[in-house]
Amino acid sequence: MPGTIRVFVAALDDAVVGSVMAGYDGHRGWINYLAVAPSCQSGGIGALLMRHAEHRLRSVGCPKVNLQVRTTNAAAAGFYRAIGFLEDDVISFGKRLVDDTAAEADGDQRPAVG
Ligand SMILES: CC(C)(COP(=O)(O)OP(=O)(O)OC[C@H]1O[C@@H](n2cnc3c(N)ncnc32)[C@H](O)[C@@H]1OP(=O)(O)O)[C@@H](O)C(=O)NCCC(=O)NCCS
Repeated sequence: MPGTIRVFVAALDDAVVGSVMAGYDGHRGWINYLAVAPSCQSGGIGALLMRHAEHRLRSVGCPKVNLQVRTTNAAAAGFYRAIGFLEDDVISFGKRLVDDTAAEADGDQRPAVG
C-alpha cells in the first residue's frame, strides 16, 4: 500500500550481512541503502535482497522501482545493470531542507544517494 517503507535484512549464522530499504509512495517504488558486508559480496546476497524488495513492492501494487547511484559508484551501477535495471532518461534534482554540511565534513561516506 502507498506509504509502505520496509527494511529487509539478510542474515547468515545470526549475523546481519546485508540490508536494503524499500519504499512505495503510491506512484513509484524507491530503493535506498542497499549494502552487503564486504566479506560477503559477490555471493549473490545483493541480488537476493533486491529480488525480495522487488517482490514485496510488486505485491503492494507498485508498477516500477527507481533508485539513484552516485556517478562515482561504477561498481554499484554495474551491479544494477547486471540485475536488469536500465538508466532512465531523467535529470535527478535534489534540494536540501536541512543543512547537513557538518555530517559531510565529518567524513560521512554514505553509499547511497538521496
Ligand atoms: C553493490 C552490492 C550491494 C552488490 O551486492 P553483491 O552481493 O556483491 O552482488 P551479487 O553477488 O548479488 O551480484 C549480482 C550480480 O551482479 C553482478 N555484479 C556485481 N558487482 C558488479 C560490478 N561491479 N559490475 C558488474 N556486475 C556486477 C554479479 O556478477 C552478479 O551477476 P551474475 O548473477 O550474472 O553473476 C555490494 O557490492 C555492496 O554492498 N557495495 C557497497 C555498497 C553500495 O555501493 N551499495 C549501492 C548503493 S547505490
